[in-house]
Amino acid sequence: MFKLRGLQFLLVIQWAMCQNLGDLNLAGPLKDMNFSIPEGAGVRPIYQFISESPVIFRATGEKDGIIDIVPKTGMLYLNGSLDWETKAVHRLQVECLDENGDVVKGPYTVTIYVEDINDNPPKFDQPTYTGVVRQNSRAGKPFMYVHATDLDDPTTPHAQLTYSILHHFPNPYPEMLFQIDSVTGAISPSRTGSYYLDPQKQDTFTLVVTVKDMAGMTTNAFTSSADVIINVKESLWKAPATVYIQENSTKTHPVNISQVHSNEADVIYELLEKEKLARFPFSIDQNGVIYVTEPLDREEKDAYSFFAVTKDTVGELVDKPLQIHVIVTDINDNPPVCENALTIIEVQENEGGGSTIGTLHATDMDEKDTLNSRLKFNIESQVPAVPASNMFFVQQDTGILQLRGHSLNKRIAANYSLKVMVTDADFQTICEVQVHVIDINDQIPIFEKSDYHNVTVAESIPVGTVILEIQATDMDEPATGSSYIIYQVEEGDPDNKFIIETDPGTNRGFVKINKALDFETAEVHNLVINATNPEPLVSGVQYNASSRTLFKVFVTNEDEPPVFQKQVYTANASEDIPVNTLLVKVEAYDPEGNTVRYSLEGDVKKWLKIDSTTGNIYTASTLDREYKEVYKVDVVASETNNAAQRSKIPFVLHLKDVNDNPPQLVTDYPTFFCHPLHGGEKALIQATDVDEYLYSPRITFSLGDDADTRNNWEISKVNYTYAHLSPKHSNFEEKVYIVPVIINDNGKPPLENKVNLEVKVCQCSSEKSCFIKLEHENSKPSVGQAVGILLGVLLIIGAVIGGVFFHMKYKQKNEKKSQQKDVKDQTECEVLNK
Ligand SMILES: *[C@@H]1O[C@H](CO)[C@@H](O)[C@H](O)[C@H]1NC(C)=O
Ligand SMILES: *[C@@H]1O[C@H](CO)[C@@H](O)[C@H](O)[C@H]1NC(C)=O
Ligand SMILES: *[C@@H]1O[C@H](CO)[C@@H](O)[C@H](O)[C@H]1NC(C)=O
Ligand SMILES: *[C@@H]1O[C@H](CO)[C@@H](O)[C@H](O)[C@H]1NC(C)=O
Ligand SMILES: *[C@@H]1O[C@H](CO)[C@@H](O)[C@H](O)[C@H]1NC(C)=O
Ligand SMILES: *[C@@H]1O[C@H](CO)[C@@H](O)[C@H](O)[C@H]1NC(C)=O
Ligand SMILES: *[C@@H]1O[C@H](CO)[C@@H](O)[C@H](O)[C@H]1NC(C)=O
Ligand SMILES: *[C@@H]1O[C@H](CO)[C@@H](O)[C@H](O)[C@H]1NC(C)=O
Ligand SMILES: *[C@@H]1O[C@H](CO)[C@@H](O)[C@H](O)[C@H]1NC(C)=O
Ligand SMILES: *[C@@H]1O[C@H](CO)[C@@H](O)[C@H](O)[C@H]1NC(C)=O
Repeated sequence: MFKLRGLQFLLVIQWAMCQNLGDLNLAGPLKDMNFSIPEGAGVRPIYQFISESPVIFRATGEKDGIIDIVPKTGMLYLNGSLDWETKAVHRLQVECLDENGDVVKGPYTVTIYVEDINDNPPKFDQPTYTGVVRQNSRAGKPFMYVHATDLDDPTTPHAQLTYSILHHFPNPYPEMLFQIDSVTGAISPSRTGSYYLDPQKQDTFTLVVTVKDMAGMTTNAFTSSADVIINVKESLWKAPATVYIQENSTKTHPVNISQVHSNEADVIYELLEKEKLARFPFSIDQNGVIYVTEPLDREEKDAYSFFAVTKDTVGELVDKPLQIHVIVTDINDNPPVCENALTIIEVQENEGGGSTIGTLHATDMDEKDTLNSRLKFNIESQVPAVPASNMFFVQQDTGILQLRGHSLNKRIAANYSLKVMVTDADFQTICEVQVHVIDINDQIPIFEKSDYHNVTVAESIPVGTVILEIQATDMDEPATGSSYIIYQVEEGDPDNKFIIETDPGTNRGFVKINKALDFETAEVHNLVINATNPEPLVSGVQYNASSRTLFKVFVTNEDEPPVFQKQVYTANASEDIPVNTLLVKVEAYDPEGNTVRYSLEGDVKKWLKIDSTTGNIYTASTLDREYKEVYKVDVVASETNNAAQRSKIPFVLHLKDVNDNPPQLVTDYPTFFCHPLHGGEKALIQATDVDEYLYSPRITFSLGDDADTRNNWEISKVNYTYAHLSPKHSNFEEKVYIVPVIINDNGKPPLENKVNLEVKVCQCSSEKSCFIKLEHENSKPSVGQAVGILLGVLLIIGAVIGGVFFHMKYKQKNEKKSQQKDVKDQTECEVLNK
């Protein structure tokens, strides 16, 4: 064995020599040195120290029986394997000795660092782990840890461990219910687990977790595994049962009413309001204990609902919010309350015994349909106690009041005050009731007079005038429908000419004129007036003759003007109707029967006449719609004997058009052509018609039928009111031509007008206006021309030109049109052709 070792060693040395360690920096002078050697590498040289003079090398220190140096050669070597886990660093001192054993060099520090190799598998701390998880625990929140160790160098991947779940028994869902943090070994529910874990379904799970070194890289990694047994427990986070809190509690608050527990420790408990309340009378402490902070009042709010939540330190919700229900239970803490401070009941005197006279209403705020709010009624007292002390009865459970035996009698007592005791289980309240005895309508109105004789009024008395005051009295209770009096005319006034108003305070009646009186219709009104009450009389009592009175109204006559049968008379007539045609008959009568005569006013055109006795209106002359389409006059009717008594109404005559006006040429501008003619000239001529047309007249233009005209001129239609006149050739002299133009209005009947149109052929100025030399005018000028000449001469004085431009205008027959015209320019001058 030793020999073998020795041989081996020599071989090693030999190998080192051959490898020429010097070249590879595996040889060198003795000095401080560091070496790094992988563990488990076996026998091998490390380094050869070289000395120039022959010396002996010696190594001391942590050789640990493995590291040494060959004294003669200085070869530092390993005689076996290093182990990192046993010793990671070996520190040696190397020195050189002479043959006497004295140190000649050194000692130097030689440090050998052992390099770790992954030669240790990771190992779990426990073969089996057990843990507990709560249902509905948060996903990712660890409930236990597994841990493994690895002996290899923790600074290398050899000791970097990753955890994973290898098996999951049972595994009922596609996703595992648990997850492990690969670095920390923390085990937590997965999302699925947080949702589905349920001890009712599966309360134990076995996980096989593995741990791998080499940071989970598969190459050369070692793996170990361990079992993890997980028990699933019910969630602690459960909504507590509905909490019942008795209202108006006398305990010292806050009072613990419930408690909730989070599945996690170190959470912050809070309450969340569900509805916005003015004040929220609940709180929670950090153990999850819920308190009511003050006494509650069921009558104010009988139930509460809110949420308990848990948050972690960063404010995230830990558990789903839990809904807490609180019901406030009733105690009898409210007394009965009278609905009205005073209940007033009215009872008629003649109500029979036993009849219901009213109900006393009372309420209790305590819970409905419980004994706490059950009310009982009882009459405590009755004032006055006449004619008996127990005139009334109240139904114990309803508050309905009844008359006990007798009818009431207002003369004995008009009012009763009752105190009714209303009780619930613990409280009692007095409610006041007043019974008013009401009079019944057993008295009739009696007139102070059975006859008011007579009054004489003029027929013109204004409507509304009071002509009589009457008075009846009623002994029933004042200011009630039993004593208030309505006066009516029962006979003698079929046309309602009279009206009677009552003063409600005094029952006095005022007879007034309701409509105008008329002597001619009725000279006297014999009135029978009755007086009644709005309330019906009780049976057995009737109105009699004392409720009636008589009154005569004499009407005196007044002279009134005649009255027309109509407010206005109208007639339609064609404008061409002959003179003396009857248009209408007006009629008026005099109320006093005097004879009436008629006349007209405002007949400015003297178109009409009226027969003063018959009222017939005739035409007096020819009418003209073109003058006035609607002709209005006044018709007067006056009494023959007294012309001052007169009435006036309008008569309106609508005139209908007939075609009675021939068309006319409109000659705003004179028609002229410039000499010499070149051919193609035309002049626009216009015609109008004053008769009525829906849109415009449809006039046709034609020329006179003589040879001259036909040879010289032609006319062509432009539209219904315009035509073009054009010369047929250009051989015209410089003079005035008379062109006969026939215009027809095509009306019914058609009317035609033959107009001799003056057409001038003249020298034209550059402005295309006619230029007439004065000396070329006729030797005997007319008056108009004389004026023209005079004006012309005056103008020549100002202008050095040998002629005058006449802007020729045609004097219209129509005066209105000519008034609108104005002389545009000082050089313009009117030529009066006629
Ligand atoms: C050896 O390593 C140590 C620690 O790293 C260092 O302080 C020392 O200087 C090194 N010696 C040599 C000779 O490199
Ligand atoms: C190597 O170690 C063995 C024992 O393990 C020993 O017998 C031998 O002498 C050693 N050789 C040297 C050269 O140190
Ligand atoms: C609060 O009350 C609940 C029941 O209402 C009870 O379970 C709990 O122990 C009480 N907590 C405290 C601190 O009194
Ligand atoms: C509480 O009860 C007392 C009598 O028991 C009563 O006087 C009081 O009004 C009650 N409070 C409320 C808020 O109902
Ligand atoms: C009865 O009631 C009427 C009306 O409220 C009142 O005017 C009268 O004074 C009362 N009489 C008595 C006796 O209470
Ligand atoms: C009208 O009444 C008066 C008394 O007011 C009386 O003298 C006269 O005779 C009466 N006339 C008629 C027509 O009844
Ligand atoms: C009173 O006169 C009115 C009007 O004519 C009539 O309707 C009514 O019935 C009369 N009343 C009595 C009680 O005669
Ligand atoms: C009408 O009736 C009353 C009583 O209601 C009586 O006093 C009066 O005499 C009667 N009048 C007539 C005319 O009968
Ligand atoms: C006159 O004629 C119009 C319609 O044009 C017609 O409404 C009116 O009644 C007529 N009037 C008379 C008095 O014929
Ligand atoms: C007819 O013709 C004249 C001249 O061209 C024009 O001024 C006028 O507006 C026309 N009238 C109608 C109704 O077209």
